Amino acid sequence: MAEKHIIDPHGGTLINRIREGLAEDTSAVSITLTERQQCDLEMIAIGAMSPLTGFMGEADYLSVCDKMALTDGTVWPIPVTCGVADAVADKVSIGQKVNLRDDQKRFLGVLTVEEKYKQDKKKQALKAYGTDDEAHPGVKVVYDEGDTCLAGPIDVAVARHDPLYPEHRLGPAQTRAEFASRGWNTVVAFQTRNPIHRAHEYLTKCAQEITDGLLIHPLMGATKEGDIPGEVRMKCYEVLIEKYYHPDHTMLSIMPAAMRYAGPREAILHAIYRQNYGVSHFIVGRDHAGVGNYYGTYDAQKIFDEVPEGGLKITPLMFEHAAWSKRAGCMVSGKTFPKIEGDQIFLSGTKVRELLAKGERPPVEFTRPEVADILIESMQGK
Ligand code: ADX
Repeated sequence: MAEKHIIDPHGGTLINRIREGLAEDTSAVSITLTERQQCDLEMIAIGAMSPLTGFMGEADYLSVCDKMALTDGTVWPIPVTCGVADAVADKVSIGQKVNLRDDQKRFLGVLTVEEKYKQDKKKQALKAYGTDDEAHPGVKVVYDEGDTCLAGPIDVAVARHDPLYPEHRLGPAQTRAEFASRGWNTVVAFQTRNPIHRAHEYLTKCAQEITDGLLIHPLMGATKEGDIPGEVRMKCYEVLIEKYYHPDHTMLSIMPAAMRYAGPREAILHAIYRQNYGVSHFIVGRDHAGVGNYYGTYDAQKIFDEVPEGGLKITPLMFEHAAWSKRAGCMVSGKTFPKIEGDQIFLSGTKVRELLAKGERPPVEFTRPEVADILIESMQGK
């Protein structure tokens, strides 16, 4: 049999900007990163944002907005920036190093400033997020960031102090090694920022049928107010996998990225991350990475048609809206069973939260009881 080959990283080289033992430059200016910037720093440092080696310069920023690609043509959908207040930017000269700190002022790493520029937030919002409405949680983060971007490569001593779930926090290189040791050639990743309900479970299992393994890869970086906290979700994933998945073909690991809620463009970004983790197939369902009513149900699937041939090596697996059909007695989608008025079990997020808050499990066709119980406990503990 031919030797197995794990998918190439995006842009061809897996980046590693971790420099253990790197000390801060005591003569340099220090900046405190925002939550989003901290997540991006970690994602760049571990290679999950390959080929990026640092925060983007202006030409890439504009090219990403206008063409969904870096200036060298590499597909890239959303700017990755280190915007700071003008007063801070004024203290930094081109060529200087800046110490990067977390919200508790702990040293993370160094940015070598190659460029400073005023960012065009409105352009970014409209092009990458499809709206400049500041009620959009991702757009709000863009507008809240400093106006002047410091750009250049980063070197990182500690990607994250006190990381959560260290045992499940495999970086791209470690994840690739794990796939190799399991003998997995084709791997499908499932991105989620929610507990896994029955519809999610259905997608993952359909995809599992055609791949060697499933990577359940929840996003565990910054999320918005109202999303279910990571530690609660983690308990849900663990219990669900233990009870309802095949251990030989299922793996759980977290992805420390921040959620941008950018819908279609973020679906591309999520796929790039996963390609870097060594994943060959990526699930994109209904309203992937969406929020509110900003995006059409399948916009995050259609955008893959705009990626030039060969622009991504990972293969998106598209799924239509799935739900339990009472008539069919199983999970269905618009592709597998006709829509009949009142047949499918559909609950809105608000309805589910209401039930859980009252201590009631949603129907078993919607959520596994073990998952429901964890959610009830967390809602009632609030
Ligand atoms: S997301 O922000 O990470 O996309 P969520 O955790 O809700 O949100 O969704 C994870 C993945 O499951 C996404 O690909 C999403 O499109 C898909 N998905 C969620 N619910 C359904 C559903 N009922 N039918 C089909 N796909 C779904």
